[in-house]
Amino acid sequence: MDRSAIEAVKARVSIAEVVRRYVDLKPVSGRWMGACPFHQETKPSMSVNDEEGFFYCFGCQASGDVIDFYGRINGLDFREALEQLAAEAGIELGNVAPDPQAAERKARKNLLMTMHDEASEWFRRNLRMAAGETARRYLSKRGMTPDVIEKFGLGYSPDDWHGLLNHLNSRGRTPDLGVEAGLLSKNDKGNIYDRFRGRLIFPIQNLSGRVIAFGGRIITEGEPKYLNSSDTPIYKKGDHLYGLHLARTTMTRSKRALLTEGYMDVISLHQFGYTDACGVLGTALTSDQVKRLAGFCSRVDLVFDGDNAGRKAALKSSRMILLQGVACRAVLLPDGEDVDSLLQTRGRDGFEACLADAPSGLDFCLETLRAQFAPREIMDWAKSFMAELADPSLRAYYLPRIAGGLGLSEADFRRDAGVAPARYAGQGQQGRGPARNVPQGQGRGAQPRPRNLTACGKEDKDDQYFLRFPIQYPDYVPELARRGFGQILGTQWARDIWEKLKHAQQGHVMSLLNEEEKRFYIRCREEMRENVLSGSELLDEWEHICNKIAFGQQKQDRQQLKEALREAQISGDSRRIDECFRALEESLRRDDEQH
Ligand code: GTP
Ligand code: MN
Repeated sequence: MDRSAIEAVKARVSIAEVVRRYVDLKPVSGRWMGACPFHQETKPSMSVNDEEGFFYCFGCQASGDVIDFYGRINGLDFREALEQLAAEAGIELGNVAPDPQAAERKARKNLLMTMHDEASEWFRRNLRMAAGETARRYLSKRGMTPDVIEKFGLGYSPDDWHGLLNHLNSRGRTPDLGVEAGLLSKNDKGNIYDRFRGRLIFPIQNLSGRVIAFGGRIITEGEPKYLNSSDTPIYKKGDHLYGLHLARTTMTRSKRALLTEGYMDVISLHQFGYTDACGVLGTALTSDQVKRLAGFCSRVDLVFDGDNAGRKAALKSSRMILLQGVACRAVLLPDGEDVDSLLQTRGRDGFEACLADAPSGLDFCLETLRAQFAPREIMDWAKSFMAELADPSLRAYYLPRIAGGLGLSEADFRRDAGVAPARYAGQGQQGRGPARNVPQGQGRGAQPRPRNLTACGKEDKDDQYFLRFPIQYPDYVPELARRGFGQILGTQWARDIWEKLKHAQQGHVMSLLNEEEKRFYIRCREEMRENVLSGSELLDEWEHICNKIAFGQQKQDRQQLKEALREAQISGDSRRIDECFRALEESLRRDDEQH
């Protein structure tokens, strides 16, 4: 990983500015505070420190630097988050990718996205021109306003076999490249032609808002009703959600996602003010999609048709969401309606009535199972659900609820489902650190409990106290290092952090720390805001630590003298015995004077 690029991104991108895109920040005594987007919270529990470049939530302990924040809220891994922020800040990540193939792949992807921009422009232009007359009439018949047509970038592909092909050609894109981009099709004879013909075009965008694929709906007659781009290097079915890049800001605020099945449904929802709506694109909901959503919200409201097929789909999707530990509700529409038709005929009131009646996802699953399935099928469902839960605390959470919902005793269901009794979830999994022996709460949901600092060992507490000083007053690190500060640290955990403090360049420690260390570091920095030492207080603290080091040094010296004395006694070297004895006495006398 290219350290200098990481540091450059952090130096150039303001964390407050990035956080403000998702969270309303208010200045509170020299820092920024806002509602944490990573747990259910309306009070401003998250502090953003622009000077030092980190965020910290007092509620859920989420913390990190601008890359952590950006990645977490967008469901990106570190690499992707770094790339996007670097691109924003105009920082070259050139030497990060030593793999020449990776660079080539990236250039290829960029080219494919550029072609999608070109195609998108062309589709939109067609919708405005004479050829787009039918499509425009269709849209207005379906109640789509110009605003929303613009917002979603809708377009039209004329009923022509070579329209887009020729357009791409004029931009110097070969037909084969058009096929690779999923924009053109190739038949068995090797002829290449437009994939989308005579269709209303819905651009599918990634989280950065770049067009990566298209959906097309037939508007006269023909099959299939909807046609999507095929998988390409930039688009994989089941990875993306339609409209998510538009919905995510509202989602982080409302903490909810409205998830529906159709393109038109998403657009209508936005048009009627439900701007936290997005859609699965004609496939079953995948766990990747749920994880993506979970980065923005804590509850997914699934909207489905009220018919049998809709119920079946809702059951599958609820299960998928519950398995990820995300809350959900199942919103079933009146038979024969979809969200779009409901909103267009009965407006918000009609939809709100359905929302108000919606059962929780788990209740919905259990009700549907009881009403429509045989006992054997119900038990298979429940057992496989439990078996697929990877997280023990989630198993503990669902076990009594499912047992209760199915009228089984908890013990019976536990045995049937093969779930071991709940144990201390924290055992053996916590890294080294002050709270390593603190049992975690049992069955309290997926959230890890905050570290319990009152319950750690004395050594740990001492180390935390000592470490706080170089973290809060980094100017003193070189002098502390010279004096041998590391010796007074009793735990490996603390010594690891100290090593990093020593070796980091001024102000660049964070990127060396692991998650747990980062949390501790940030907490220390945060505490300092409440209580900055200055003048004589700081001097007192400094002396106290220096004394500790000196005392530790003496203790160590004395230990060495005692060993030397013992060796001298064994070998019968009386002059050496005498020397050691005197030195030891001298050391003890000094100690007496000091205390
Ligand atoms: P309208 O009829 O225009 O309101 O569209 P709709 O979204 O209500 O259609 P429908 O309920 O039939 O389908 C829901 C979603 O499933 C669509 O938005 C598509 O994403 C997908 N879908 C429907 N039909 C097809 C199809 O023939 N092929 C593919 N690939 N996807 C389809
Ligand atoms: Mn519809």
